[in-house]
Amino acid sequence: MKVAATVLETRDMIRKWKQEGLTIGLVPTMGFLHEGHASLIQKCREENDKVIVSVFLNPTQFGENEDLAAYPRDFERDMMLCEKMGADLIFHPEPEEMYQDSCTFVNITALSDNLCGKTRPTHFKGVCTVVSKLFNIVTPDNAYFGQKDAQQLAIIKKMVKDLNFDIRIVGCPIVREEDGLAKSSRNTYLNEEERSAALCLSKAVREGQRIISMGADSEKVLGPMREIIEKEPLAKIDYINVVDALTMHPVERIENPVLVAMAVYIGRTRLIDNFIYGEE
Ligand code: PAJ
Repeated sequence: MKVAATVLETRDMIRKWKQEGLTIGLVPTMGFLHEGHASLIQKCREENDKVIVSVFLNPTQFGENEDLAAYPRDFERDMMLCEKMGADLIFHPEPEEMYQDSCTFVNITALSDNLCGKTRPTHFKGVCTVVSKLFNIVTPDNAYFGQKDAQQLAIIKKMVKDLNFDIRIVGCPIVREEDGLAKSSRNTYLNEEERSAALCLSKAVREGQRIISMGADSEKVLGPMREIIEKEPLAKIDYINVVDALTMHPVERIENPVLVAMAVYIGRTRLIDNFIYGEE
C-alpha cells in the first residue's frame, strides 16, 4: 500500500493504473477510521482493481463554532486499517495541498436547506467542493459513501448528475455497534453516561421502522420517536424529520420513498441517525 501526500504523486500512480486498463474505486474519509469506513473500503475492494482511500480532515466543511480542532485523528491506525482492508493507495494531503487562496466552490442550491444543512449552513458547500476536488484528482470509476450521512449521499448523487461527473456513486448501509449505536468518529467524544444516553437515537430509529408501515402520516411516526429521545435527560433534539428521499423536502404523508432522519445533541456531541422507507 502506498501513501501519497500530493496531488501530483497521486495522479502519476493513477495514470499508470489507467493505462493498464485497471478500474479505480475511491472511498473519501476524514480519518479516524472505524468499521463503518471499513465496510465502504471492503465494498470498494470487491468492485475495483485499485482501491484509493482519501484521508483528509476537510476544514471547509466545518463551521466556525464546530469541532474541527477537536476532531479525533490517528493516521497510524488509519493506515493499518486501510492496509488490512486491502487498499492500494491512501491520499493524505495537508490542507495547503488542497486549498491555496481558493475562491472557487461547488454549491448545491437544493437538497441542502433542510436537516443538517439548516443547522450547518455552509457544511454541504464544503463537502461538495472537497468531493469534487477528490473526484478530479482521483478520477475514479466508482466512489463509495455511507447511508449514515444520508443527506450527504443524496447531495453527492445530485451533484454528480448535475455536473456530469462520469462516476458511479455507491451507497453503503449504516454499520452499528452491537447495541445499535451507529458507528461514528464522534462517538469518541462521549463519556460513559453519554454513551448509554446515545442509544436513544437507534432506539428511536427501530421504533420508527416498526410503526412506519402501519400508516401514511409522518407525524404518527415522529411522535413516538420524539418521545423516546425526549425521555433521555442528556439528549436534545436538533431536528427529526420525515423528508422525500430524493428532494429532502419534509412530507406530511408517506407516499414516495422517504428518509426519516435526526440529529440529536448528547451533551455537547451532535449525533445523527436515519432510516429509509419505501425504496426499491
Ligand atoms: P467521514 O465522516 O469520515 O465519513 C466517510 C464516509 O464513511 C462517509 O461516506 C460516511 O457516510 C461513511 N460512514 C461513516 N460512518 C458510517 C457508518 N456507521 N456506517 C456506514 N458508513 C459510514 O463523510 C465524510 O467523512 C466527509 O464529509 C467526506 C465525504 C469525506 C468529505 O470530506
